[in-house]
Amino acid sequence: MLSRREWVKTFALGCIASVGSGARSTVLADISPGVNVANVIDLKTADFPVLQSTYGSVRVGLFNENLPGGKMVVTRGPGDVFYAVSAVCTHSATIVDAYLHGDTQLIICYGHDSHYAMDGTLLKANDEGTANQGNLPKYNTSYANGVVRIELPSLNFKLNTVFIQSEVGNSKRLALNYNQRLGARYKVRYTPDLITPPVAVNFALTAGGVANQTQTAVATSNNARTLYVDSTQSRGFYFIEMVVETEVAYSP
Ligand code: FES
Repeated sequence: MLSRREWVKTFALGCIASVGSGARSTVLADISPGVNVANVIDLKTADFPVLQSTYGSVRVGLFNENLPGGKMVVTRGPGDVFYAVSAVCTHSATIVDAYLHGDTQLIICYGHDSHYAMDGTLLKANDEGTANQGNLPKYNTSYANGVVRIELPSLNFKLNTVFIQSEVGNSKRLALNYNQRLGARYKVRYTPDLITPPVAVNFALTAGGVANQTQTAVATSNNARTLYVDSTQSRGFYFIEMVVETEVAYSP
């Protein structure tokens, strides 16, 4: 039986804020030196099947489109190179389409017909004659073992604190405090050992509330937030997961 202090330590070490659609960061040792893990998201290609083929492309919504990286187009290029670019048109902020290989081989903004390459390079500027239009902002990516890793410089998604809110018998209520992003939604997942795939668990929105929530409402601020989970386990790992919504998906 773990002491209360040991139990908190085990969970504190195990709780990792993460992002994805059924995906989460686990072992972070393979991230390049100097990369802030709070600015990294992992997308499993298994969760985005079009990304399992070269030239497949998906537009995903993570959080507020007015924040850098809030909406992105992720495209698989030749040689397992992935491109992640902002989905906000650099003309006047219409949300661009995903990359369509079979037809146009372009990312198109249907606002005023701007054309971009899969890596965000502007190929044709808007039809309105507005000058000085730029490329779509591009984010660093890497790929290994079915996971696309994307660096969003201002994401700052992390677990701040973990503590035992209350105890009744052998049931503990754990408080998970994390940095949320305006416009994002979150889930909580649990795995006993980091090997077993994490499963979604219910949580409460308040310290005394019933743990019957499966997903938060859309965040209305960038303020830190606390979710509460109930556990009778002596050890394990909880994850905060940012919901990634597939908005458009094109097969090659
Ligand atoms: S907003 Fe995209 S071309 Fe005008």
